[in-house]
Amino acid sequence: MSAFKLTEHVTGYTFGEPVDTGIILGEKTYGDHVLPVKVEVRDGHGIISFALTKYDRVFGLGPNLGGINKRGRQYESYCTDDPLHHEDKTTLYGAHNFFILEDDDVATGFFIDFPSRIRYDVGFTEMDAFGIDIHGEDFTLYIIEGDSLKDIVVNFHEIIGKPYMPPKWGLGFFQSRWGYETENDIREVYETFRKEDIPLDGIYLDLDYMEDFKDFSLSEDRFPNFETLVRDLKADGVRLIPIIDAGVKMEEGYDVYDEGIAGDHFVKDESGKPYVAAVWPGKVHFPDFLKESTRAWFGDKYRFLTDLGIEGVWNDMNEPAIFYDETSLSEGIEAAIAAKGENLGVMPFFSLRDKFQNIGNKDEYYRRFYHEIDGKRYTNEEVHNLYGFNMTVSASEGLRKHLGKRHVLISRASSIGMHRYSGIWTGDNSSWWSHLDLNVKMLPALNMSGFYYVGADTGGFGGNASGELLTRWMQFSIFTPLLRNHSAIGCAFQEPYAFGEKVTDYNRQLIKARYSILPYLYSEMLKSHEDGSMMFTPLSFEFFGEEALQAEDQLLLGEELMIAPVVKSNARGRYVYLPEDMVLVSFKEEDVKMWTAKAGVTYLPYGLDDLKFFLRRNRMMPYIAPGRSVKDLSMKSMNIIGYVETEAVYTLYDDDGTSYGFEDGKVYKTEFHARREEDGEIQIRVTNDNPNIEKVIFTLMDGDENSITKEVQV
Ligand code: NOJ
Repeated sequence: MSAFKLTEHVTGYTFGEPVDTGIILGEKTYGDHVLPVKVEVRDGHGIISFALTKYDRVFGLGPNLGGINKRGRQYESYCTDDPLHHEDKTTLYGAHNFFILEDDDVATGFFIDFPSRIRYDVGFTEMDAFGIDIHGEDFTLYIIEGDSLKDIVVNFHEIIGKPYMPPKWGLGFFQSRWGYETENDIREVYETFRKEDIPLDGIYLDLDYMEDFKDFSLSEDRFPNFETLVRDLKADGVRLIPIIDAGVKMEEGYDVYDEGIAGDHFVKDESGKPYVAAVWPGKVHFPDFLKESTRAWFGDKYRFLTDLGIEGVWNDMNEPAIFYDETSLSEGIEAAIAAKGENLGVMPFFSLRDKFQNIGNKDEYYRRFYHEIDGKRYTNEEVHNLYGFNMTVSASEGLRKHLGKRHVLISRASSIGMHRYSGIWTGDNSSWWSHLDLNVKMLPALNMSGFYYVGADTGGFGGNASGELLTRWMQFSIFTPLLRNHSAIGCAFQEPYAFGEKVTDYNRQLIKARYSILPYLYSEMLKSHEDGSMMFTPLSFEFFGEEALQAEDQLLLGEELMIAPVVKSNARGRYVYLPEDMVLVSFKEEDVKMWTAKAGVTYLPYGLDDLKFFLRRNRMMPYIAPGRSVKDLSMKSMNIIGYVETEAVYTLYDDDGTSYGFEDGKVYKTEFHARREEDGEIQIRVTNDNPNIEKVIFTLMDGDENSITKEVQV
């Protein structure tokens, strides 16, 4: 083992000869450092064990099941396509090996830099033991220190680099569905949003737009006027965001396939031939995204889309998902032929059935194809978690090069490091209340891993949503930077207007509220980009005590808000824990109301007809009038609402919304300052360098239901 310092707060311990994953940035200074945890390397595995006291908790592990406190379950880090993630699943689409272990005195952060499978048993098999099984002997363990949980996250973010920042329109509302088959379907969706007066910034295009599921192709039949469609909708602030899949259809004469073969860009099987798997297009080859030349080649292909006016893409099936491979399919077929005419007993029947029923994403597929890194051959299994990550690096670099301005990019598979290149959606959830609840709990762990542009398929991907579920989900997703309603082909339609007039009214005002608070969300993203802080924080990261720890269905947003969504059906409200006095805010029909709310556990009446959240003590937040799309939003007249007992400051970050100027600090900062004098009068000061803001209207509460309104020209 060799040890090194990366920063004042981060020490690394390298075992064996790990693959360079590209996740961690910075210079190593080698020295003698004592490893503070028990790590054993034996039988090809790295084993880390911790004893847990009754009070210890574990946070992090990115997009996975379970609660905010990860105790009591088993998890796996291995990017997996799981379209039906039930309670007992252990791994989803991302592999994020960052976690914090906290006892009552100390908290320590851990990151395991290893690109293959890691299993975590967090007090599941034995309540007082936390075991980690790394499926390899070559890895680096990073230990991250800090003064608080939030500080540990900031110190971790310092070594993984800054997150991807979408353009401002990326925070608008997006509609999506697998099964909007034609150009007319897309126009109809767009027109219905406009007719129903529901704001919209984009429509995602699923596989339907492609010719035979071929990447970088267009169906002439279904989308004969693609470029005009893109142009018409963009003129009204609505972008189209097409999907790209990892597998390239095997078809001679198809340019991407031919170039891939000629340029030696596809992953190989044991014999050195391009590996054959089957996904949507039938038989495919997978580009070897771990090779720089392949990334550059595939990245350039996105130009096909940018030349048509496209400014955003989603990368799918990049775990990579495999429906079957040739070997397994042949085995199944042979077994079926051999069984023909036999009187099969139940067990042989089950065994035959399994050959087809469990043919997707089998472990052995990932041992049947190879990547080459620095002249050394690795099975995909050995470097599995780098695949989707590097597909997304390829897309990001291609889009940046060909667009010259910021783009929207989300990926399904992920590992830490990819956060520098794109956002993620959390994959194929279902229209279940439990998945809404899961969405809430997953969010802080995604921020801990460096991912901020995140969101779930609002309303649920699989299964049929009810109007009630969609609206409740919307009341939560209104706050997530990526806000996309997406559903699967064959399921009930779930557009915001799909459930009758009443639900349409609810959803319209929720989406309008989203556009009103969008400057705040955008500002918080820019801040997190600047300082590495989390945007969504568990209550227990800020407040002590059992109540804060237990309140896993409430989150703090920025330094200002606390959100407490309803995640159960037939509820007319919910109990909320307020760790301090706050102000309850309601957005309803562009009307904003506030009431004081005292610390403690309280019942919050919360129907479907407004958006409710809490504003913390001595904090303020901005909002503006909603618009049809982000391009219509105006900050000329800005509202500030606040709960000011003594003094509050809010700094609003903003920029041009499209350029990369923010990377060089080209960010407007407007400081709103309010101080309550002894006689209750409020002194207000605004320091502003944002040319888009002209007037600010403050409405500030004290702790006793009194509010003062003041207008300031800036
Ligand atoms: C799987 C993705 O997760 C889902 O969002 C998409 O609709 C389907 N693939 C079809 O492309």
